[in-house]
Amino acid sequence: MPVKAEREKGNMKGVILAGGLGKRLNLLTKITNKHLLPIFSLPMIYYPIQTLVDAGIRDILIVTGGNHAGEFLRLLGNGHQFGLKHINYTYQEGEGGIAQALGLAEHFADNGKIVVILGDNIIEKDIKKAVEDFRKQPNGAKILIKEVSDPERFGVVEFDKAKRIKRIVEKPKKPKTNYIVTGIYMYDSQVFDIIKTLKPSKRGELEITDVNNAYLERGELTYSILKGWWTDCGMFDSLLRASNLVAKKAAGKK
Ligand code: G1P
Repeated sequence: MPVKAEREKGNMKGVILAGGLGKRLNLLTKITNKHLLPIFSLPMIYYPIQTLVDAGIRDILIVTGGNHAGEFLRLLGNGHQFGLKHINYTYQEGEGGIAQALGLAEHFADNGKIVVILGDNIIEKDIKKAVEDFRKQPNGAKILIKEVSDPERFGVVEFDKAKRIKRIVEKPKKPKTNYIVTGIYMYDSQVFDIIKTLKPSKRGELEITDVNNAYLERGELTYSILKGWWTDCGMFDSLLRASNLVAKKAAGKK
């Protein structure tokens, strides 16, 4: 279906954030981009692309950066291996953070809703239901959250008595819950105005948690709990865990 017709049907575009220097994985990332490292049998970036494709998203932008951005094009080309007609690419200069990288998708989003996934987030199941729910949500944002045993590494969700999100705290020393924000986010077009108001955090980055808290203040942030396992691949232990989880899933399918 042509892209214009896809939009008229309410189909959303997808954005994969695959920039950064992957410093927490040095030396593995000295000569390549983190998102090209192997996770079991495939380069890491394959998994988030497949997550979006499985959710019915056909128009995808990859935001990358660093010294190895050209390798994405060599690896993925036009995305035929995913049944896509083409893939869009853009380049993030420097390391301004997730929210800055997302800001580069404004033109691509073209005032429509988008589904965003971090290039190192790998999941067991699919996000179809959440994407469908967000398609029906009149405006605002939706995040996918997950219970984990090491919440201090992530954006941590705090709830009020009615189980609504009260606030999100980025990497708190003493997390108040074990629920964290995964790297899967859905936004309406307000996201780009919000990003323009952000100030860099202590780590010198524009934080996606500040974007989500801005939606929360507007009363426009919904959430779903992600089913199945979820992992990022930002550190040596999570990189290994991701390969092990994917390998186990592949073995189960045989
Ligand atoms: C980022 C976000 C964090 C989120 C995590 C999910 O962390 O800042 O809120 O929980 O992704 O993967 P980072 O990988 O930049 O440390």
